[in-house]
Amino acid sequence: MDVKVTTQSCKNIDVQALAIPVFKDEKPTEGLLKMLDEAMGGLISSVIASEEFAAKEGETAYFHLSGKALKARRLLLIGCGERDEYKARQVAQMAGTAARFLRSKSAKTIAVVPRVEGDAERAAQTVVEGAIMGLFEPDKYRTREKEERELERIEVVVEGADTKPLQRAVERGRIVGESVNFTRDLANEPGGYMTPTILAERAKEVAKKFGLAVDVLDQKRMEKLGMGSLLGVSRGSDEPPKLIVLKYEPAKANKQAKGELLALVGKGITFDSGGISLKPGENMELMKYDMTGAATVIGCMRAIAQLKPAIPVLGLAPCSENLPSGKATKPGDVLRAMTGKTIEVINTDAEGRLVLADAIAYAKKLGATRIIDMATLTGAVSIALGDVNTAILGTDQILIEGVIAAGREVGERFWQLPLDKEYSNQIKSDIADIKNVGGKKAGTITAAAFLKEFADETSWAHLDIAGTAWGDPATPYRAKGPTGIAVRTLIEFVERSARQTSS
Ligand code: BES
Ligand code: MN
Ligand code: ZN
Repeated sequence: MDVKVTTQSCKNIDVQALAIPVFKDEKPTEGLLKMLDEAMGGLISSVIASEEFAAKEGETAYFHLSGKALKARRLLLIGCGERDEYKARQVAQMAGTAARFLRSKSAKTIAVVPRVEGDAERAAQTVVEGAIMGLFEPDKYRTREKEERELERIEVVVEGADTKPLQRAVERGRIVGESVNFTRDLANEPGGYMTPTILAERAKEVAKKFGLAVDVLDQKRMEKLGMGSLLGVSRGSDEPPKLIVLKYEPAKANKQAKGELLALVGKGITFDSGGISLKPGENMELMKYDMTGAATVIGCMRAIAQLKPAIPVLGLAPCSENLPSGKATKPGDVLRAMTGKTIEVINTDAEGRLVLADAIAYAKKLGATRIIDMATLTGAVSIALGDVNTAILGTDQILIEGVIAAGREVGERFWQLPLDKEYSNQIKSDIADIKNVGGKKAGTITAAAFLKEFADETSWAHLDIAGTAWGDPATPYRAKGPTGIAVRTLIEFVERSARQTSS
């Protein structure tokens, strides 16, 4: 799909449909809305007066224009709620709604007006990201009623003469939006089509296409390294585990950033049945998305390789199935992690922390000085925060606040949970160094307390995306299914880190 900026007046843009955000209690008495209302003989005033359209978030009013009012023959008004609450998230959702809605009307070319005050480049990028994300459909296995319609071109309407930086901004938006959808596509794959081996192949393709270094550790190498925690999870499965390692190396690294290495680590359980501690059957099919953390890492690296920030970035994804069998780890077994720490496995369904333990240790071995891990780690996080905020915890407050701030910039919400040392009491084992579950209380926190044992002194933050990585039900701006949460935040975080160390 083509993305471009246009400085033309809305009347003259040569597209099939024009999309305009409208705010609550707004009347078309000035500016763009007034101009359009007049050109359309008062249709906008009329629909607002009719109470058919109150400009609530996600509401739409659609017109097919017959006159010569606009070059575009269709106009879509998109409700955006309160003017002062119109921030990155609302802008992206507006654009997503516009793209989804107009595609459903078979439009091929559309123009979107951001109506954002302030940073025009950021606004243009956000519109493109939102539109591309809006177009994602998880229907690749349908043979009937598949969404076959396609938008061919999106134009972002901007004011101002210098379109070069704006054109670069929409290009960045395209890279980021497509990388988010790449992550969502991986997350959506059923376990049968997305084994650790296949996921590693996909990572290799990305590395080759965009120029990243890649190393995939197989079981033998993991055995040599003593990754007994990760291997304890994969034992029950016939599919061999993989530890994917991607590396982005800037052509010219910042001198200030010398010796610094940021690592992104994502949980890659390609199917989580719970293992011997088998999950109930209800909704178990959803556990195909238990590799979303890994998919997030690969999606971020895909974008980073193209955006070329001035700091190196490592991406790690420990990948395994979690299945019961005669070879599977049993509750009560003791595993020895790469660091030498021994782990009593109380519940084989708490497997994410086990694969992450060795991956975090390996990131440190590769020289990581800051680690951010992301995982669909606990059901408890949905109880705490629902599907609105992603939980963030860690040992480095500056790192945590950096991620939260990057999230605010792109419109993704994170909420910090505490990680006081007392929570670690819950994972003390009677027979080993630690155990892999901490009881009923504070499940998301005790899972993070377990990971902290492996991050140890290294600057570390953990994102529990179990509640936010799957969107259900569908919304006007997003199909039901994988959301790609945190991909945009982490890309933004990496770009900010590169800028900070360069100034
Ligand atoms: N993958 C699950 C967490 C999960 C649950 C993600 C529901 C998305 C939706 C994880 O491996 C798991 O099973 N966690 C257990 C931990 C428990 C055994 C301590 C959980 O949350 O129930
Ligand atoms: Mn599990
Ligand atoms: Zn899991």
